[in-house]
Amino acid sequence: MSDTTAGTLVPMPPEEESDLKTRRAFLTAAGAAGLLYTAALAYPIYRYLASPNEMAMNATAVTELTLKDAQKLPAGSVLMFKFGTAPSMLIHHMDGRWIALTAVCTHLGCTVQYEPQADRIHCACHGGVYNPYTGANVSGPPPKPLKLFKVAVNEAGVEVSRA
Ligand code: FES
Repeated sequence: MSDTTAGTLVPMPPEEESDLKTRRAFLTAAGAAGLLYTAALAYPIYRYLASPNEMAMNATAVTELTLKDAQKLPAGSVLMFKFGTAPSMLIHHMDGRWIALTAVCTHLGCTVQYEPQADRIHCACHGGVYNPYTGANVSGPPPKPLKLFKVAVNEAGVEVSRA
């Protein structure tokens, strides 16, 4: 690097040039760290506002489907299926009720599991718990309930559609 004094080029002393390079490298590293920090803060906010459950529901153009032979599902068991791209579950409860809901945790998008022995829907990622009849978020970090589908059972299978 050079400096100009009264129109004459005067070479910069080597130690000043080295300091300048060090300062430039520090500012570049600080800028990159600042961008990473901002992204780290913004991402959870984005994920909260656009919950995985809603993203999964919006990502699919499917509005209804028939699960052939699902009417034979024994009481107290569950059938996992995909509603478009969204992992979903059909539960045949011991009391005879049929419930279908998305299986995408509203916290950070893990696939949830029905646990018949505990009569709950559980997310193993961070311990979220949902009501298996309503999809309501009962405990743990999930901020919203699971989305319910409409269910119609007939002789050929179980029809599931958006509520
Ligand atoms: S992703 Fe389900 S509780 Fe965190």
